[in-house]
Amino acid sequence: MSSHGAPIPMTSRPCGPLTGEAKVPGDKSISHRSLILGAMCIGETEITGLLEGQDVLDTARAMRAFGAVVTDHGGGTWTVNGVGTGGFAEPDHVIDCGNSGTGVRLIMGAMATTGITATFTGDASLNGRPMARVTDPLALFGTQSFGRSGGRLPMTLVGAADPVPVTYTVPVPSAQVKSAVLLAGLNAPGQTVVTEAEATRDHTERMLAGFGAEITTEETETGRVITLTGQPELIPQKIAVPRDPSSAAFPVCAALIVPGSDVLVPGIGLNPTRAGLFTTLREMGADLTYENERTEGGEPVADLRARFSPGLKGIEVPEARAASMIDEYPILSVVASFASGDTVMRGVKELRVKESDRIDAMATGLRANGVTVEDGPDWWTVTGRGHGEVLGGATCASHLDHRIAMSFLILGMATQKPVSVDDGGPIATSFPVFEPLMAELGAQLVRDNA
Ligand code: S3P
Repeated sequence: MSSHGAPIPMTSRPCGPLTGEAKVPGDKSISHRSLILGAMCIGETEITGLLEGQDVLDTARAMRAFGAVVTDHGGGTWTVNGVGTGGFAEPDHVIDCGNSGTGVRLIMGAMATTGITATFTGDASLNGRPMARVTDPLALFGTQSFGRSGGRLPMTLVGAADPVPVTYTVPVPSAQVKSAVLLAGLNAPGQTVVTEAEATRDHTERMLAGFGAEITTEETETGRVITLTGQPELIPQKIAVPRDPSSAAFPVCAALIVPGSDVLVPGIGLNPTRAGLFTTLREMGADLTYENERTEGGEPVADLRARFSPGLKGIEVPEARAASMIDEYPILSVVASFASGDTVMRGVKELRVKESDRIDAMATGLRANGVTVEDGPDWWTVTGRGHGEVLGGATCASHLDHRIAMSFLILGMATQKPVSVDDGGPIATSFPVFEPLMAELGAQLVRDNA
């Protein structure tokens, strides 16, 4: 099933060179945060380049339900007239966050210290994902939660009317958990302190500073210690959302495996907490260059140029890099299938609790297409077959997971036989223009029911 409608079976056929420019949409992480932080300050925040994928649209709808005025001005420009920190109104209906773990977890954090009650739900994928990782630290502020067994949605949160600040060490590498605690800390008096052993994406910290909050980050022996002073007067911002490196990963990786390709992907954010895939690809021997490197809105940005790379070699991906490329392992496993030798990926147990169990989803689909994959609880290895040597021909289950669907469609661009997915519908959650953008480069993607 697609998250928002009937399944859309799709097939990708082996194609000629991919060439041209791929302007991928705005960053999903920054888009969610722009809407939520905009809703948490009084006055008008203007956002350009917002990702208009279903996940972010669901967050926009949620912010309206909490009382913010969220307006779509067309062409990716949106405004949010917020209600202020702690000013959320109680929604009169259930908040449906669709497929989005980021949406629901960040919104739970934002309402947790406001003394209102809200009920959250999502699609079959989201309702199967663990929420205790967020509700456990929120309970320390005084928030109560009532969900299904295993801490799953649907779930009602009763916000803390008199929150206390919290000191918390995040037990899993998760920017969503860190961000939920920081957003909750905004409306608690005093200092909320969050420690993370491994650095995860730091958009919340950067954006909170931009919105005028007092927030510091210190690198210590136990990890990064983030200290936020609660109850600031947030100041509305003008935000230009950079293009999403996690979406750029798809045309970049496609260009590396399709003979003759040469693709430019302009304006990609290369925040070190997000850019691990590109470092890994270069270590594998990818012809991937950064052009026109610059700083935009405080973030490092470059134009990525990816060319067909016949000499890719499997590598052991350093465990310490996992958080900076956590969403990119599925597409890396596709590139690894065309490399020579083994690509070993360790320390990636978080992949098992994403929109799907991403190790299982990719291992099953790659094996069906003739690739050898071994896996364990927190590791997997792909044995590359080399260029031109991956068979294809199978239909893969996308498990309501956009990145699984896109990864298999990219696989089918360089296999001997076409590759199909049972449902391309979830792609719209993060990359609504994936099909026309890839077709424009020369890909041959079809909807099987069309
Ligand atoms: C995200 C954090 C990551 C990532 C997700 C976006 C965010 O999830 O997988 O796509 O915007 O904070 P985790 O926090 O569960 O690692």
